[in-house]
Amino acid sequence: MLVSSIADHMKCPRTRPAQLPNPDFQPPYPSFSIRFPENVSQLVMAVIGAQHKSASDAADGASRATLTTFLTSRASTTLPSFFEWASVTDNKGFYNIIALGYWPSKAAYESWAKESGFKAWWQALGPDSPNGWFLEAFFPTTDRFETLFNTDTAREGSAHMGQCMSEAVKEHGYWGSMRDRIPLSQTDGLEGVKAVPDGYRSPPEDVTPTGRVIIPGRKNLAVIRSGQDWLDTTPEERTLYLDTMHPVLTKGMDFLRDHGDEVGCYSCRFIEVVDPKTAKPDGIDRTFGLAYFNELASLEKWCKEHPTHLAIFGGFFQYAKKLGNNVTLRVFHEVMVLQPEQQYFEYVGCHPRTGMLVTIC
Ligand code: HEM
Repeated sequence: MLVSSIADHMKCPRTRPAQLPNPDFQPPYPSFSIRFPENVSQLVMAVIGAQHKSASDAADGASRATLTTFLTSRASTTLPSFFEWASVTDNKGFYNIIALGYWPSKAAYESWAKESGFKAWWQALGPDSPNGWFLEAFFPTTDRFETLFNTDTAREGSAHMGQCMSEAVKEHGYWGSMRDRIPLSQTDGLEGVKAVPDGYRSPPEDVTPTGRVIIPGRKNLAVIRSGQDWLDTTPEERTLYLDTMHPVLTKGMDFLRDHGDEVGCYSCRFIEVVDPKTAKPDGIDRTFGLAYFNELASLEKWCKEHPTHLAIFGGFFQYAKKLGNNVTLRVFHEVMVLQPEQQYFEYVGCHPRTGMLVTIC
């Protein structure tokens, strides 16, 4: 029997209609959501990055070693529940090495930042640093957070703070199901601030690093981390994934990165998870798109209408068909819609096309 993606303790009488096509709707395949303990009401996902002019500039591993000391510091009793390393070369050719960390509360994150020495180090960072740094931290309350996994065994990001995976959920397999899975959407339209071309201020060709810049949060910014894991696929499926899905996914991510202003997307990075020892993606076989939209409606529109996601979506059904629906590729996403005070963006010595810097430079 299908269950609701919204946990019982987060249900309330709807004042806004669900998008579910009809009460008897049956999704064509199973998908699952993480169940969090009832006492977890807020999560933290922090994207802590070092920005280097090129991968060879980061080859000594110094920036990664610096962050590792904080993320594993014995002085902190609230180390991240989970963190991993990932990297992306951006459209200005800069190499960004990223620690993606999760905590089960804002208090735990703040206490880690203080006790580990990260906060003091971060505040002291100056123009003499050989590379840029960025901190993009999100503090969604669980009523503003949803997840969807195509398997019930994945251990990704926020799943490390979950109690278990749900049974197969009913809110998926139709456009608008993402919204239906967000508990607050029962009573709130989650409208953000319209993105206007003027909102993207950074001159596209300028790569001069900025000084230290803090970007204020925006009403109902929508953040998605959409991941792919083909590690355990058969050789046949792996080839099919790399030959057919990966190229269209790259195209979609490139579109959001380079033309996000056309669809309300401020920032998109297509990121490779890397080996913690080598910082290389070899043998890891996992990627994720990390994108920030002005509001949930823009993300919905891109998914439902834009040729790039339609190609990804359509490609996936062809892919499943070729495999006789025996898909072992794991895909998932985490989506959050954030209040301004649930976002923290700070950049030190990064080029002006980095993350939310595009909105103010
Ligand atoms: C290989 C990669 C991908 C595949 C196979 C894929 C496929 C799909 C599928 C099958 C759905 C419908 C899920 C359901 O409701 O059962 C979906 C929905 C969605 N996808 Fe993708 N996708 C991929 C990558 C991405 C990326 C990178 C993003 C954004 C950065 C994204 C954003 C979304 C969103 C937001 C929805 C929910 C739309 C809604 O419910 O209104 N997808 N995708």
